Amino acid sequence: MAFDFVDQLKSSVDIVAVVGEYVRLKKAGASPRWVGLCPFHTEKSPSFGVHSTRQFYKCFGCGAAGDVLKFVMEIEGLSFYEALKALAERHGIPMPKRHEYSDPESRLRASVGDLQELAAKQFRENLAGPKGAEARAYLQRRGVTPQVAEEFMLGYSEGGGQQLARLFEKQGVPRDQLEKSGLVMARQEGGGWFDRFRNRLMFPIHGETGKVIAFAGRALGDDNPKYLNSPETPIYQKSHVLYNLHRAKAEARKLDFTILVEGYMDVIGVSAAGIRGVVASCGTALTNQQVRMLKRHSEKVIVNFDPDNAGAGATERSIQLFIEEGMRIRVLELDGGLDPDEYVKERGASSYRDRLMHSKGYFHWLADRARTRFDMRDSDGRMQAFKWLLPNVQRVGEKLERLAVVNDIAFQLGVEPGPVLEQFRKAAVDRKTAEMRPENRETQVTDAERTLLRLLLSEEDVRESLGPHLASLGQLERLATRRILETIGAMIQGGGRFSYGDLEARLDEAGRKLLGLLTWSEEDPARHRSALPSVEQAANAWRDLNALGQKADRARLRARIREATSAGRHEEALSLIAELDGQGPE
Ligand code: CTP
Ligand code: MN
Repeated sequence: MAFDFVDQLKSSVDIVAVVGEYVRLKKAGASPRWVGLCPFHTEKSPSFGVHSTRQFYKCFGCGAAGDVLKFVMEIEGLSFYEALKALAERHGIPMPKRHEYSDPESRLRASVGDLQELAAKQFRENLAGPKGAEARAYLQRRGVTPQVAEEFMLGYSEGGGQQLARLFEKQGVPRDQLEKSGLVMARQEGGGWFDRFRNRLMFPIHGETGKVIAFAGRALGDDNPKYLNSPETPIYQKSHVLYNLHRAKAEARKLDFTILVEGYMDVIGVSAAGIRGVVASCGTALTNQQVRMLKRHSEKVIVNFDPDNAGAGATERSIQLFIEEGMRIRVLELDGGLDPDEYVKERGASSYRDRLMHSKGYFHWLADRARTRFDMRDSDGRMQAFKWLLPNVQRVGEKLERLAVVNDIAFQLGVEPGPVLEQFRKAAVDRKTAEMRPENRETQVTDAERTLLRLLLSEEDVRESLGPHLASLGQLERLATRRILETIGAMIQGGGRFSYGDLEARLDEAGRKLLGLLTWSEEDPARHRSALPSVEQAANAWRDLNALGQKADRARLRARIREATSAGRHEEALSLIAELDGQGPE
């Protein structure tokens, strides 16, 4: 395997552009770094960065790191060769034949992908041809124009049940590939294959980069099931896909919101109404993965599920997921029992857009739900409703917004705001203590600590000379970086090689985050100025920390002396004074 091609590829694609297709990145000032929310773990403030000159990415929150190939592998779930090929294709760089996949798994996935593209082409031809008349009439009845059908690459699967099976067999597609394609099935008896999709309107399902990875087929009449979907295959995992994301993401980024609907026809209807940033969860329970995929492109989401009980239940559950991922949520519930597609058809695109712009903050929607769940005629029921809502209120990040929401809810539920606010205040305090946020702790880190930490991380000789004594640093307990320094100390004591990754792995979430913030930030005051050897710089920092600590100790002693004196505990005061003297001059 010649690595010249790998190098050539890496030097002709820009990691910032590639990552930027999946993650909204912002340039960090004048530095060559771009930052954004990490696509590999849940976070509310960015600890994920891409370095444009050094061409790598790193997340200080979860430790994900690597070059452009690693990124594509991780985010798309691809093997090395697949990522190589995907990048080469996307950038129009011809890939030498000898770099075609070598591992069987990648080869299988590639051919399964090719079969989907082949099928998509066949289905579209069918729809346009003589056999597609019934499907075309169906589309027309449902108000789908030929242009829209074309845009969504809709197709038709023949009723005979042999078309794809014959096509694939003629091409000599091996058995394992046929089996895994999800497009054809082996006969129970007599051998041979038959098509999975028969006499259905075909919706190709694309991956985020726009390749066909699966299909859904809708019955043209009342056949059961209404929708028949591809099974999971080596390239299709239902819970990792949102229908239409590859088309919707540009608009979602531009407007900073995405519309989430239930079904294929909803996407097509809403999109045809001129609202392009729309995706569907396809009738299944929304997953964390899907929420994260959305979050990579927009901060806000408008949930517009069907206005029935199932839709409402799904909306409730999705709200939880979205809040957990830190997204902003609105809910649009259409009236007249219409789903988004029906609404656009019956009331028109501009009416739908209007409803969309006036969709409720999820709280109002939840408060309405609470009203239907609890008996709002007595105060007990109203309080229960409030308690049902409270956990969601607590997740609202901004204090003012939280208060406004509470007032609103109290008003809406007809609850006395006084006791409500008291309950709420208590909940807010609990919340605050629960999250000693590393971002806040960062500001408490002294310059000396920063310097010490940086040197310990980067300089072997500093680790050697200071490492064994870290635990005896008098001030350790008081430092914001205590856990990090203690962990470094323990690692050095334990012997073995020290690495940043191992350190991260040993820290808890908050520790990792703090470490990330400190190492990412370029505010280390000693970084560029000092001409001293690193061991000396570290010793100075250590001395500063000790001095700071002693100063704090003395201040505390003085306070205790004052307290003992004014309370008339003279003996205690005297012994404290002796202790203060014993600490030597300031
Ligand atoms: N669905 C499915 N299998 C079914 C029924 C539904 O996978 N047997 C999924 C499809 O993604 C469908 C979505 O759930 O689009 C919503 O279902 P439904 O509201 O019944 O369908 P619509 O999208 O409204 O489609 P249509 O307008 O054609 O009835
Ligand atoms: Mn529907």
